[in-house]
Amino acid sequence: MKMLEVTGGNTLSGCIRISGAKNSAVALIPAAILSDEEVTICNVPDITDTTALCEILDYLGVSVKRASETMIINAQNIENKEIPEKMAKKLRASYYFMGALLGKYKKVTMALPGGCSIGSRPINLHLKGFEALGAKITMENNVYTVEANELKGANIYLDFASVGATINIMLAAVKAKGTTIIENAAKEPEIVNVATLLNNMGAKIRGAGTSTIEIKGTDHLGTCFHEVIPDRIEAGTYVIMGAACGQCLKIDNIIPEHLESLTSKLEEMGAFLDIGADYIIVSKGEHYKGIHVKTQTYPGFPTDLQQPLTSLLTLCKGTSKIEETIYENRFMHIPYLNQMGADIKIKNQTATIIGPSKLVGTDVVATDLRAGASLVIAALMAEGKTKISSIEHLLRGYENIVEKLKSVGAKVEIKEI
Ligand code: EPZ
Repeated sequence: MKMLEVTGGNTLSGCIRISGAKNSAVALIPAAILSDEEVTICNVPDITDTTALCEILDYLGVSVKRASETMIINAQNIENKEIPEKMAKKLRASYYFMGALLGKYKKVTMALPGGCSIGSRPINLHLKGFEALGAKITMENNVYTVEANELKGANIYLDFASVGATINIMLAAVKAKGTTIIENAAKEPEIVNVATLLNNMGAKIRGAGTSTIEIKGTDHLGTCFHEVIPDRIEAGTYVIMGAACGQCLKIDNIIPEHLESLTSKLEEMGAFLDIGADYIIVSKGEHYKGIHVKTQTYPGFPTDLQQPLTSLLTLCKGTSKIEETIYENRFMHIPYLNQMGADIKIKNQTATIIGPSKLVGTDVVATDLRAGASLVIAALMAEGKTKISSIEHLLRGYENIVEKLKSVGAKVEIKEI
């Protein structure tokens, strides 16, 4: 098991270059098998989630060439066989192989996906979309078989604007007969990134990024060159870190518009941000006042940043509140923050943070990806040493996090225990 040892109190300054978006790359990689030719994707982050997906591609007989952040995928010799639990369970995004294999071969058999234990995380909306397109679904011992004689375009209304369901239905519908309309679609930038890949292959998708997406089925999807957008959640995590212990910390290679819900909240609490065309420069403010945050679907405040933000809010004078509306179990970092000296209470889906608190290093555990990020930020702010165990979660979503932190002055060491 890996552990991160952090010595707090250093001021972070310099430049951190943001990598490609995990939540885009993990959809683009399975989507590439829809093409009958070679697909090149650049700016793919080198994280354990993308490695896990390449293992599935390799298992299916898909050719994958990876050089630095460029991936060349060719599915011409693919074998559409059952994806076993040990592979599917490694991450939530393995479920994108459902939409891609169903969309191309009208049949897929795979075990339930994995993912952070931040809630029940059902896939009922994905399956509802597949059935609307004409697929039959059976399940035995947690293995789904989804198959159709023919996939026909349909009008699909999503009860919740689910990111995964929106993308998965797009993948299943892109070669269906006729037109599919997804109503109440999720609007996250990662969805636009996936739709652009598919259109570059020859698909006919309109409306990605709005709540209504139209997909006109097409017979052939060909070769293309595509780029993963910058990771707005990685960027937001480092901006929060800069507001906690930075001095002119530059977060570079970003799309600031994707972070507006965060930057407006940071300015409301008293942070000073210099927002450029593709960067943000942030320094720790003298005085922070308490704020109220409610997580929403895009363009609202992202649930993936509420955990990192919680650590920063311990610096605010007065009361802050974070209401988590997306997941039912996304406060597992809070007991550890309280062990470090924070004063946070949870009632129902709202965390109330009383500050300012002085954090002191101790031994903590990363329970999930963004809880890990929250603990890293707290450890950098804290007096003394913090040992964060189970950081495998962290390495799933933050490319070269130890090198990036060291490059701006953080005292961190990764250790095997
Ligand atoms: C994606 O998860 C992201 N993961 C999550 O990021 C992110 O938090 C989430 O979108 C919301 O933005 C990836 O892209 C790999 P959802 P996803 O479908 O697709 C319920 C991270 O930290 N729901 O929008 O699983 C579900 O239970 C991760 O990078 C259903 O009820 O999110 C949850 O409460 C964590 N039925 C809510 O919707 C379904 O069929 C959000 O789920 C699907 C979802």
